[in-house]
Amino acid sequence: MLEVSDLGVRYGAIRAVHDVSLQAGKGELIAILGANGAGKSSTLKCIAGALKASAGTIRLDGQDVTSAKPEQMVRLGVAMVPETRDVFPDLTVSENLTLGSYIHRRNRADVESTRERMLGLFPRLRERARQAAGTLSGGEQQMLVIARALMSRPKLLLLDEPSLGLAPVVVDTIFEMIAELKRSGLTIVLVEQNAAKALSVADRAYVMRLGRIAAKGPAAEIAANTDLGALYLGG
Ligand SMILES: Nc1ncnc2c1ncn2[C@@H]1O[C@H](COP(=O)(O)OP(=O)(O)OP(=O)(O)O)[C@@H](O)[C@H]1O
Ligand SMILES: [Mg+2]
Repeated sequence: MLEVSDLGVRYGAIRAVHDVSLQAGKGELIAILGANGAGKSSTLKCIAGALKASAGTIRLDGQDVTSAKPEQMVRLGVAMVPETRDVFPDLTVSENLTLGSYIHRRNRADVESTRERMLGLFPRLRERARQAAGTLSGGEQQMLVIARALMSRPKLLLLDEPSLGLAPVVVDTIFEMIAELKRSGLTIVLVEQNAAKALSVADRAYVMRLGRIAAKGPAAEIAANTDLGALYLGG
């Protein structure tokens, strides 16, 4: 479904990503691991159309989407949850969810039924549907941004560091939800520094180091490879 070939990203003179190639098949969950600054978020933003590739190609179901804009990518079924976890703080949980479907301009009943599904998937959000999003805990905000991304009914979900700054018990809840989404058939690209957690839900993993893919393989193999620990833990 997703095929990234020889991707490059530059910020002016800085080359942040070099020759990155990766694939995700339909229903697959791939993890991109790596230390701070390895180029994980740059790669993900590029796939989402939020950042221009300086080299390489991105294909979605065979279609070249290398130069597609973020709105086009959403229309094509790609949703991203950035690491910034930005909710609209003064709007309610329910209103935040509604905004997640605005690009599709679907009818009201359709938006409501999708929102209902999201509140079913995230009971914590249902209890807080009328609460201002800015007053949610960090973990609840993370659930909200994931649910908001899902409002566009994507076929490919890009998640950037969903565990960042959350307590271990909350991280467990978030990862149970990610596993649940995978079981529902969604294709997921998960960027994480929490390698152990990511590898517990991923089918395959790519380890990035200094903007390049340093290792790749089935999640179980990457998890068993102790030499890689130094790579993705930043050593
Ligand atoms: N807007 C920008 N302008 C200039 N350099 C940038 C910009 N964004 C990222 N970089 C640089 O590109 C490199 C890769 O950054 P990126 O955010 O992709 O890494 P990352 O793997 O997501 O790291 P982290 O785990 O800290 O989120 C870093 O060296 C970073 O300083
Ligand atoms: Mg990042």
